[in-house]
Amino acid sequence: MDFARLIEARRSTRAFSERPVESGKLARLLEAARWSPSCSNRQPWRFVVVSKDDESRAAFEDALDAGNGWAKRAPLLVVSGGSGANLLEVETRDYLLHDAGLALMSLVYRAFDVGLIAHPMAGWKEQPMRAALSLPDDFHPIAVTAIGYPGSPDDLDEATRKKDDKPRTRRPIGDSVFAGRWGVPHPAVLPGPPERFFETAIPIRFSDIDAMGHVNNALTLTLLEQGRMAFYVEVVGVRRIEDIDFVIAESSCRYKAPILLHDTVRLRLHISDVSRSSFRFRYLMFDPDDGRVFTEAETVQVVYDFAAGRPKAVSSEFLEKVGPFIGG
Ligand SMILES: Cc1cc2nc3c(=O)[nH]c(=O)nc-3n(C[C@H](O)[C@H](O)[C@H](O)COP(=O)(O)O)c2cc1C
Repeated sequence: MDFARLIEARRSTRAFSERPVESGKLARLLEAARWSPSCSNRQPWRFVVVSKDDESRAAFEDALDAGNGWAKRAPLLVVSGGSGANLLEVETRDYLLHDAGLALMSLVYRAFDVGLIAHPMAGWKEQPMRAALSLPDDFHPIAVTAIGYPGSPDDLDEATRKKDDKPRTRRPIGDSVFAGRWGVPHPAVLPGPPERFFETAIPIRFSDIDAMGHVNNALTLTLLEQGRMAFYVEVVGVRRIEDIDFVIAESSCRYKAPILLHDTVRLRLHISDVSRSSFRFRYLMFDPDDGRVFTEAETVQVVYDFAAGRPKAVSSEFLEKVGPFIGG
């Protein structure tokens, strides 16, 4: 999943399915943690993964606070922390738990990336947990993370369901990030939406429909291409194929609903990022009558000098033409 989308999608929800987590998926999470940065590459993190079949599971669950009872449904409970054998001090600063936290964050994001939930918790009692899992004295546990597939909110008690229904909130950036010196709020603000979105109709032809009765996923990418070309003709003013000076370096599609033959489909696109020699289109395919979203997608275009065989800078002429379509 695109990392910006992953950041948006990650949430500490509490409804877990009892479906077991495949060992290959768990391995990917642990591998993400393994490649985390750490002070002097000391890798102080340690994880104890406890599944439903482990003998220690019942005693471990007893160490959870009552308010975290929902976590017992999760197929995996993972204790993480830092091992004191690697105590990491620079001057007076101890990086042990800091680096254990970085590794947990990598694991959490990778979990969402592969369709799992990972919910860290501080609500547990240390001594019974140490006893349940035979933790050594020089290991400093700091979090227990419930990991599993998303389940149904109907399996939660009402109080817990209400917690999950609350919208996510954060302080404004300027309350936590200072510019130049302590106390001066950083003015960072996300770019607003573009002044204009480009829209075009995408007629669905009989031959676009596959044996499953809908537009095949692979074909969806060609529908994006149709929209992109319409943008190049209408906004950039391209008339000849030789004037198209980009290659697609990356495409990602999120399928939200099937497109059927009778559907009316519109494609909306804008440019969300511009770098030195590339820019990103964001697309939405939707039904203009009822607002149903069929597909969300992104492509990264690298502007290319075909004669020289290498990327070239995005031109100011192009930026001037597409300016109203650039936004967050
Ligand atoms: C170290 C840590 C401890 C947490 N402890 C608990 C907990 O004991 N129980 C719980 O329900 N959520 C717990 N959470 C989840 C937070 O409440 C949650 O991350 C926060 O409200 C932000 O919501 P979000 O993760 O959905 O963005 C914990 C999160 C972290 C990082």
